[in-house]
Amino acid sequence: MYRLVCVHCAATYAPEEIIYTCARCGHLLAAEYDLETLDVSRETWNRRPLAVWRYRELLPVRGGPVTLQEGGTPLYRLTRIGEELGLSGLYAKHEGMNPTGSFKDRGMTVGVSMARELGMRSVACASTGNTSASLAAYAAAAGIPCVVLLPAGKVALGKVAQALMHGAQVISIRGNFDRALEMVHELCVSHGLYLLNSVNPYRLEGQKTIGFEVIDQLGGEAPDRMVLPVGNAGNISAVHKGLRELTALGFVDRMPMMTGVQAEGSRPVVNAVEQNLPELIPEPNPETVATAIRIGAPVNAEKALAAIRTTGGTAISVTDDEILAMQRDLARKEGIGVEPASAASVAGVRKLIDAGVIDRDEQVVCVVTGHLLKDPETVVRQCKPPLEIDADLQSLLSALRL
Ligand code: F0G
Repeated sequence: MYRLVCVHCAATYAPEEIIYTCARCGHLLAAEYDLETLDVSRETWNRRPLAVWRYRELLPVRGGPVTLQEGGTPLYRLTRIGEELGLSGLYAKHEGMNPTGSFKDRGMTVGVSMARELGMRSVACASTGNTSASLAAYAAAAGIPCVVLLPAGKVALGKVAQALMHGAQVISIRGNFDRALEMVHELCVSHGLYLLNSVNPYRLEGQKTIGFEVIDQLGGEAPDRMVLPVGNAGNISAVHKGLRELTALGFVDRMPMMTGVQAEGSRPVVNAVEQNLPELIPEPNPETVATAIRIGAPVNAEKALAAIRTTGGTAISVTDDEILAMQRDLARKEGIGVEPASAASVAGVRKLIDAGVIDRDEQVVCVVTGHLLKDPETVVRQCKPPLEIDADLQSLLSALRL
């Protein structure tokens, strides 16, 4: 059994309450399980396929889930990049291999299942793109209407295409993501739509399974460090929460150092960590090529800062050039196609190695969060267009570098 608990003042709420922030202090809520009485064992998990629902005892859904078979994503060892960095234990968990091409699917299978269980008739979110693509698909699978709010002109093409094709009502606002989130929150509370941004505690329950899978894929051991790109700071908080639960259950014996990476033009969490601020100072005009993490006021900052600080992790920012260089390296040296925000995590590792923060004997798992095809325009801008030639062999031979 579980209940909702305020992460700030510890007020508790029944699981069936439709509530996103604490009625007493306004801070976020988290689902808390009674781990002592939970009937869960690693043997049971190991008998099930690697996927979000392998871990169903630690998820809030009680009935049948709304699922598109999410999770079970590959954990790749980065051999060439690892060798360049002098890091033999460098891995990438490729969340772009989920049904809609990002880790959001793990959250949405749980979040939309809960929407159905709670009797909600419509769902909504604000998004820098991936959340909207994922929610649109899961709402379609559940057969319920979906509204998404996007920052106009700042969402990658593939993500808008997905939200439209899966039948969401897609609204672009003349404002940034942070404003879109405020607006959709208000809309949901006043008009009874179910809010599926990462303020929703159930959505984050699904995302914590990234960490569970990493442990299982590493043979039951925790890595020394987990590195995640940070936007709204929900994912790093979710993975940390899940790993704490595994530690409390005695399934792993230590916590990885939680490490967040932001873009240089959008780095409020990094500032808070570097300056040891108790609270985050929002960035009013976030800007970066990694539009997925173009967020100035991350709503999960309180949880994320605790995750980073209590595990001895850190946060670092990377420039747009560093992000794009790593996107190309992952694609060309490892065969791994990710979108810019995802490359930020590995770019952050490169920088932390150079700064001497990461030891070369550490085992480091980067979460690469979304697929290359999400943002084809940023890809095409970095590459030379194909050579167009006459349709004869001579032209082909003169065009090729053989
Ligand atoms: N990587 C990608 C590809 C994302 O789409 C996001 C967030 C993040 C990283 C950061 O995760 O917000 O939990 O810290 N995208 C959200 C969206 C905001 O609307 O799709 P976070």
